[in-house]
Amino acid sequence: MIHQSKSYIKFIRLSKNRHGVHSPFVYDLVTKCFNDKKTYPEYEILKSHRKALRSDTSMVEMKDFGQGSRVFKGNARKVSAVVKNAGMRKKRQKLLFRIAKYFNSENILELGTSLGLGTVALSLSNEFSAIHTVEGCPNTLLKAQEYFEKFNLHNIQIHQEIFSDFLSESRSFGTETFDLIFIDGDHNGERTLGYFHSLLKHVHNDSLIIFDDIYWSKDMTAAWQQIIANEKVTVSIDTFQWGLVFFRKEQPKQHFMIRV
Ligand SMILES: C[S@@+](CC[C@H](N)C(=O)[O-])C[C@H]1O[C@@H](n2cnc3c(N)ncnc32)[C@H](O)[C@@H]1O
Repeated sequence: MIHQSKSYIKFIRLSKNRHGVHSPFVYDLVTKCFNDKKTYPEYEILKSHRKALRSDTSMVEMKDFGQGSRVFKGNARKVSAVVKNAGMRKKRQKLLFRIAKYFNSENILELGTSLGLGTVALSLSNEFSAIHTVEGCPNTLLKAQEYFEKFNLHNIQIHQEIFSDFLSESRSFGTETFDLIFIDGDHNGERTLGYFHSLLKHVHNDSLIIFDDIYWSKDMTAAWQQIIANEKVTVSIDTFQWGLVFFRKEQPKQHFMIRV
């Protein structure tokens, strides 16, 4: 927590809004996507989905395969409480929707489904896209799936697997590439770096990888620093909660800190 607070103060001091951004690619992303104030009809579906989960008082035995929760103690958790206390915030969910829509992402990978708040945002960004979402906990995934079906979201493929197994060499995913990858689970620096390296063979020139919680801990921030220093990464954007990396060869290597 001290690390997060100190990092936030530094972020506020160094970050910019659109006015300080001289890269046309990043300027357009900030003005046309990050700052897009349009009310999309899909926001209503996000709202109804969240509302349905928030009214779900069933208990689910959830095993967290990552660093665990800073909110919950035991494994038996009420669905409504998970959404309320640990789920992705509305503002972020809408931003994820807009990012996937802005880049017209068709083949999407999410590591860390949980109850599917992020998955639904990705799914709604383009009905013709394919969303692969990976979650280690079978019970959590079942609950998420129940709501994907209730909301008629048919472009989601769930994978109940540990991230490292899903990404292992022997998997049939082969040389498939993703347009957008959202890593929202297992906030461990070393493992996050491992996922990044495994994923490098699944990215193309216009892919984007989003890392959640890059200031969760010192080791997550250290991993983020190594990721942005990687020679394959050209543009990187730190929005404090999320770190975005691009591989566009036509861009000079440049790092941005942007308030969203
Ligand atoms: C922060 S939650 C994901 C939130 C979700 N994306 C959303 O939008 O609400 C992280 C999830 O990732 C799962 N997870 C963490 N590490 C994992 C791993 N190594 N393998 C599989 N699942 C993992 C946890 O079980 C947890 O459900």
